[in-house]
Amino acid sequence: MLDFPHNQSRLIMGLAILVALVLIASGCQGAQPGTPAPQAATEEATEEPAEEATHEATAEATHEATEEATHEASEEFEDLENPFAGDPDAIAAGQEIYLNNCALCHGETGMGDGPAAPGLPEEPSKFADCEWQSHEPDGELFHVIVNGEPEEGMPAWGETLTEDQIWQVLSYERSFCPDLVIEAEATHEATAEATHEATAEATHEATAEATHEATAEATHEASEEFEDLENPFAGDPDAIAAGKEIYQANCALCHGETGMGDGPAAPGLPEEPSKFADCEMMAQMEEGELFHVIVNGEPEEGMPAWGETLTEDRIWQVLSYERSFCE
Ligand code: HEC
Ligand code: HEC
Repeated sequence: MLDFPHNQSRLIMGLAILVALVLIASGCQGAQPGTPAPQAATEEATEEPAEEATHEATAEATHEATEEATHEASEEFEDLENPFAGDPDAIAAGQEIYLNNCALCHGETGMGDGPAAPGLPEEPSKFADCEWQSHEPDGELFHVIVNGEPEEGMPAWGETLTEDQIWQVLSYERSFCPDLVIEAEATHEATAEATHEATAEATHEATAEATHEATAEATHEASEEFEDLENPFAGDPDAIAAGKEIYQANCALCHGETGMGDGPAAPGLPEEPSKFADCEMMAQMEEGELFHVIVNGEPEEGMPAWGETLTEDRIWQVLSYERSFCE
């Protein structure tokens, strides 16, 4: 403890009272810009942990409620059967829906190897795997298509496709296995499957690593090549119109219809899809750099490679459209 002489401690007392008065006065005037009232600071400090706690509690409650609802919904769907089963018109309609919306992940031939597959948390189901399909009743698949499994990378289609369209695309998925007999109950040996899965995983990891190294090297080389490219269609309204169509069919699923990065597939991706409507971000992006990403993708972040699917002209067109969000 410091021991002040009498008159010095009075001086300190006086100062303390003065400070207190100033504080009260400024509190009464309300917080002014640049001079935050100490009271407000204290309030904020006490509010923050409370807010966090509330947030956590809400998140948990919501999570539980959702789980329950999903569970109930799944029981509701269980006994549904495809009203179009085997109907060739439904299969044809379903093929179109599949190629536009599903092939990107599940692959054109149903092998789970579409261009977006490498970036997803789970491997997209292989509809060409007839053994797998035989254990999946209609109602269960319908349920997954409606609600999605966003955390595994499977978007929800309940808002985008009608009920009929969902049955049609399911008819098409079933057509990969023409002799399919859906088993009432799974009768496979658990041990056999466990061993199989473990082996598959090990092989998968080894391959993935090798591919990753090779790709990284190739991408690096390619990136230097692209750096100085410029868009030959920049600002051309026809190119923007053509690009819009390409965008809606191939990119909106992740990047969002209005370029806000909020498409139905976004929640399952390792990275948030770039927001083309974020003009500050876009102002910093070089043309050649964007072109390069579209051609090669960033599969580990969830961005598919389009170099095999879109011609060079079409890539510039879709890039013109992406730029048009900020023009
Ligand atoms: C962005 C990628 C992506 C797109 C696009 C996509 N899927 Fe999926 N889908 C997945 C992934 C990943 C899984 C595996 C989820 C898991 O393992 O739980 C999956 C699983 C499924 C299943 C699951 C079955 C099951 O019980 O295992 C069905 C059915 C399905 N998808 C149908 C569709 C249909 C129909 C479309 C198009 C209208 C579509 N998917 C589009 C990624 C996608
Ligand atoms: C399956 C989801 C998905 C689809 C479909 C998709 N993207 Fe992406 N895209 C992403 C993600 C995720 C990123 C962010 C990658 C990162 O953060 O590194 C991205 C990044 C990009 C970038 C890079 C911008 C930057 O910040 O460097 C461009 C350009 C792009 N996408 C264009 C397209 C175009 C054009 C299409 C359609 C032809 C398309 N994307 C379709 C998921 C997707």
